[in-house]
Amino acid sequence: MGVGVSNWRLAKVVSRLGEIGVVSGTAIDAVVARRLQLGDADGSIRRALSHFPWPKMAKRFLDNFFIPGGKAPHEPFKLMTLLSLGMKRARVEQMIVANFVEVFLAKEGHRGIVGINYLEKIQLPTLPSLFGAMLAGVDIVLMGAGIPLAIPGTLDRLAHWDPVELNIQVEDNTADQAFVYRLDPREYSSGVRPELSRPKFLAIVASDVIAKTMIRRATGRVDGFVVEGHTAGGHNAPPRRVGQASGAATTGYSDRDIPDIAKIKKLGRPFWLAGGFASPGRLKEALALGANGIQVGTVFAFCDESGIVPAMKEAVLKECINGTLTVTTDFQASPTGYPFKIVSLKNNRTSQSEPGRRERICDLGYLRELYCKDESKVGYRCPSEPVKDYVAKGGREDFTVGKQCLCNGLMATIGLGQSRGDETELPLITAGDDFSFVKHLVKSENTHYSASEAIEYLKPNHS
Ligand SMILES: Cc1cc2nc3c(=O)[nH]c(=O)nc-3n(C[C@H](O)[C@H](O)[C@H](O)COP(=O)(O)O)c2cc1C
Repeated sequence: MGVGVSNWRLAKVVSRLGEIGVVSGTAIDAVVARRLQLGDADGSIRRALSHFPWPKMAKRFLDNFFIPGGKAPHEPFKLMTLLSLGMKRARVEQMIVANFVEVFLAKEGHRGIVGINYLEKIQLPTLPSLFGAMLAGVDIVLMGAGIPLAIPGTLDRLAHWDPVELNIQVEDNTADQAFVYRLDPREYSSGVRPELSRPKFLAIVASDVIAKTMIRRATGRVDGFVVEGHTAGGHNAPPRRVGQASGAATTGYSDRDIPDIAKIKKLGRPFWLAGGFASPGRLKEALALGANGIQVGTVFAFCDESGIVPAMKEAVLKECINGTLTVTTDFQASPTGYPFKIVSLKNNRTSQSEPGRRERICDLGYLRELYCKDESKVGYRCPSEPVKDYVAKGGREDFTVGKQCLCNGLMATIGLGQSRGDETELPLITAGDDFSFVKHLVKSENTHYSASEAIEYLKPNHS
């Protein structure tokens, strides 16, 4: 769960309890860099960096971002260079190091399984991120928000230290040019070259058709699937009958959007069901359907160990108990064009999701799309940047309607929101539709619960 919600602390607890703990790899470079600017109070990041195979690279990261004692509250976080096809080595290093740090910490001190989650839609960080996570020995890579055909083969190659490349999607590409991002891992290994093992690859899919496509056309082995329905938190697959149209206002799911589990089972790979499965009954149901288990998000997003700011977790759980919490599938908010679940609170009106609350600023840029400027040049634009800038770059004005800045909003939700003068970026909270676990886990006098209690609720016989 991104960004930073499923952090190393949460993944580590889950993994130690014998489940698969998954960290979010989305924007993890900015997350780790900002945690360092808050002073790395428990020293965890510095400890992880001391295990990074190339100390000089780790030191460059530390020197760039660490502020002993933390930055002053109103001082803005240092911005990283926005990602681009031609990004410099220093920027690539930051992604390698940060992914290493998050996975290292999640895996530290136990033998449990740790995965990392990325979004296919966010392409530029993918290769350095995979490499960094593999340096820390990540066990599983999970990827959705698109059809990640190239990733399984990429993992095979990286495990042999071979150069890798990824075709990058570029809009307005009338001449049909190929745009490729390349990474040669050997260029980053000064002297020491640790052995890398190939993590398992799980594709996150919303239909049997996509699952089948993955098996047939992926560049390497797909080891299994997370089958995610549209009630899940975060981004959802668009409704089938409409298809994905960036920025287009679409509404409503139908029965056609419910994945056909029998067909998935026939593919013969392990699979986990996700989206509204956080109850012992639904877990049993999933197992009866042939699933290896379930992937749950919302129940973990609001537990003690997650990265969401504690006061926000408490507000969400309280409003859930009081019946004032609403979760909507917003078909416009995300610059990716995918539907995105947004939590609204009645009595805590602080969210970015209120219209007109936020001046448009794009300074993290993870969701920028690439577009052809002219014959050979590539430009970058995001439908949630200032409208006039987006339109000046050839973007369609109607694509900007209702767009939220997920990058800044999600960073604020985990306490890493940018300071802008006297103001701080407002949070954006995502969650799935199903909060039925709350009445079982939250006792009236105590509005919080641990990841271990959540697992105990889901698996009563868990020891
Ligand atoms: C706060 C939050 C953030 C999420 N972020 C991501 C993400 O970055 N990538 C992803 O593949 N899934 C993401 N998800 C989806 C979860 O991984 C999981 O599949 C889903 O939440 C399961 O449904 P549930 O919320 O009903 O348990 C997110 C879910 C939540 C609640």
